[in-house]
Amino acid sequence: MDAARTDQSQNEPCSFVIFGATGDLATHKLLPALFDLERVERLVDDLSFIALARRSWTTDDWLEHVRTLLKDKIEQSSIPQEVLNRFLARFRYLQADLNDTESYRTLAADLTACGSTGSRTVFYLAIRPADFVTVIKNLKAAGLNEPRGMNRVVIEKPFGEDLESAQVLNRVLHQNFDEEQIYRIDHFLGKETVQNLLVFRFANTIIEPLWNRNFIDHVQITVAESIGIGKRAGYYDRAGALRDMLQNHLMQLLTVVAMEPPPALEADALRDEKVKVLRSIRPIGKRAVHAHAVRAQYTHGSIDGQSVVGYQQEENIELGSITETFAAAKFYIDNWRWRGVPFYLRTGKRMPRQHSMIAIRFKHPPQQLFRETPLESIDPNWILLSIQPEESMHMEIHVKQPGLDMNTRVMQMNASFLKTDEQTLDAYETLLLDVIEGDRSLFIRFDEAEWAWRVIDPILKFWTVEREYIPTYPAGSWGPAEANRLFDSDDQIWRNEL
Ligand code: BG6
Repeated sequence: MDAARTDQSQNEPCSFVIFGATGDLATHKLLPALFDLERVERLVDDLSFIALARRSWTTDDWLEHVRTLLKDKIEQSSIPQEVLNRFLARFRYLQADLNDTESYRTLAADLTACGSTGSRTVFYLAIRPADFVTVIKNLKAAGLNEPRGMNRVVIEKPFGEDLESAQVLNRVLHQNFDEEQIYRIDHFLGKETVQNLLVFRFANTIIEPLWNRNFIDHVQITVAESIGIGKRAGYYDRAGALRDMLQNHLMQLLTVVAMEPPPALEADALRDEKVKVLRSIRPIGKRAVHAHAVRAQYTHGSIDGQSVVGYQQEENIELGSITETFAAAKFYIDNWRWRGVPFYLRTGKRMPRQHSMIAIRFKHPPQQLFRETPLESIDPNWILLSIQPEESMHMEIHVKQPGLDMNTRVMQMNASFLKTDEQTLDAYETLLLDVIEGDRSLFIRFDEAEWAWRVIDPILKFWTVEREYIPTYPAGSWGPAEANRLFDSDDQIWRNEL
């Protein structure tokens, strides 16, 4: 370990507690990401993990569970057995009931100290949002909020269910932890392309002059998923796509596209700029919700040739549920840079494939120079930033087709962000390392969450009251036809392909 790492490790925790260790998030995201950090030797030697869950398991049962979970990953990448052994040796399993204060006393007794510098712990709440408050209060009751500034608590999104509940949750957090201890996570901010967007915008002088209402016609942000709701009915049916994805992940993408250059790449400087964007979003009045937002739910259909059931037929979803699995919205940012440029956001489950993209459409040239030629109209330029599955940038420009006539074709300049021998990091790897190292730049400050709720709240309230009907879309399609009504002009259409 080098000197810088040794210094850094003075602040690093010695225990990392995963609440909800057997749940979906821990299984699919946290454990694989922590294992990857082990593989690349980014975990300090004395860091131990405590897996906390309701099941009456022993540590051996838990280790078997982790072995099974990582088996394919280890085989596919030929990871040496010693990496797994080192990883497993860090774990203890504790059976716990989140409501029972005794569980927290046991946890407190179990936490070990990091040498002479005392105990420092990360509490990762990979649990149902409904349990956040209980856990936060119980952590304090057991004295686990101390030492201030050292022990950290990580809260998953959605942060609250609406503006009011987010404010209540924040109050509870602040009664029990200092702001410096709180890490509100939105894992989209850990995605490579999202960070790349900052570099793309602010490290390239050729982009910045074009990045405004003078040149940009509109912006589309799409996060499409082909998966359904899996085993998350309990959570998802309460949340819906607006709370699950749009209020946080898509709004965060919007802020990164639209923000002004921050004075420095520091946590608060970045967050200040993002908040300014959110504050500038034109509020959507009750009467305007219909024109600004569309929701829908998937019915049965087929994806990749496989037939899939509709939302109402998913396990543990009641017939008649009107929870949206697709949400689209149009926002205007009323500031100097963006006034009049619509931002169209959409996200949905059971769409044809996983595909997340920011699509920037430029304006038509001011002069129709080619009117008298075989070219009737020229499609405008696009810049497409693909977030996943591939991380790439595409620029569409017009070139003349070789030949006697004046015909053009669109040429795509494509660039992958990765070189062929490079591998992309999972967002959780980046963010978990940041939590461990105490860097909060890619985490949400409360005012970001609060302003995002302010923007979304009118839509949420309107949809909560309108309970009779929800449009549908067949699984495997790009969403309901109603989503087209958001567009301001006839030549705007959803961009589904790169
Ligand atoms: C989560 C949502 O925050 O993000 C899920 O709760 C969604 O519903 C997931 O599937 C998408 O994240 P990723 O990184 O897999 O695209």
